[in-house]
Amino acid sequence: MKQKDWPYPQWIAHRGAGLHAPENTLAAFRYGYQAGYRMFECDAKLTADHQIILLHDATLDRTTNGTGLASEVSWDQAQRLDAGQWHSTLYAGEPVATLDRLNAFCQANDCMLNIEIKPVPGHELITGTLIAQAACAAWQECEIKPLLSSFSVDALRAAMEAAPELARAQLMHTLRPQWQSTVNELQCHALICNHEIVSADIVGSVHEMGMRCLSYTVNDELTARRLINLGIDGLITDEVERFDPRNGFKSI
Ligand code: G3P
Ligand code: MG
Repeated sequence: MKQKDWPYPQWIAHRGAGLHAPENTLAAFRYGYQAGYRMFECDAKLTADHQIILLHDATLDRTTNGTGLASEVSWDQAQRLDAGQWHSTLYAGEPVATLDRLNAFCQANDCMLNIEIKPVPGHELITGTLIAQAACAAWQECEIKPLLSSFSVDALRAAMEAAPELARAQLMHTLRPQWQSTVNELQCHALICNHEIVSADIVGSVHEMGMRCLSYTVNDELTARRLINLGIDGLITDEVERFDPRNGFKSI
C-alpha cells in the first residue's frame, strides 16, 4: 500500500525536554530546541472554561502548585499557578503553558508539533474536538501541520470529525488485539507504541497498512538501536542530551 505523507523528523522531544526542564512548559520546549530538536510532543487538555493547556496528568498536583482536576479550574486560575518550582528552583515561577503559546513558539522557530490529546476522563469528545479545531486554525497557513495523537479512540474520532485534514496517530501502551480496525476507522497516519511492545511483526504490519510506526519513551541507546533495527520511523525521547536528533547517537 502507498505510504501516507510523512513530513516529520525521526527524533521527537517528549513533553518539550522530558526530564531536563519542567515538562510541558515553554522552558522545556526552549530547552529541547537548544538541544537541537525540531519536533516536540506535548500533552494537551481543557480547563473548566475550555482553554487548552499543556499538562500531562488529569490533576494539577504533581506538576504545579495547585490541586485538583485540571478540568475544574478556569484559565484565570490556571495562569496564576507555578508549573516550574516542583522541578527545581531554577524554574520557579514558570507558568502553565497554553497550546496557543506553543504553536507560536514552534512557528517562530520552524519546529513541528505532536499534540497528544490527553482528556481528563469524561471529557474525551469535547477535548478532541476543540484541540483539533484550534490546531487547524493556528496552523492553517503552515505547510507542515501538527500530528494529533491520543490513547483515547473517542477523542481521536472527534478530532477526525472536527479537522479531517490533520494527521492522526493512535497511541498504544499494551497490545490491543483490534488495533488494526481502530487505526483503519480513524484513518491514522501512524501507530505510536510503548517501546516494550514493539516487534518486527507490529512494525511490518503498520508499514503494510501504509502507516508509520513510532515509539515512546525511548531513553536508552540499547532500546533505540533495537527499534531502529526493526525499522521504526520515529522515537520520542526524554533524553534530549543523550541523543542527537540529527545523527541519532552521541558517543557517550
Ligand atoms: O505521546 C507519547 C507519550 O507521551 C505517551 O505517554 O503518558 O508520556 O503521555 P505519556
Ligand atoms: Mg504524552
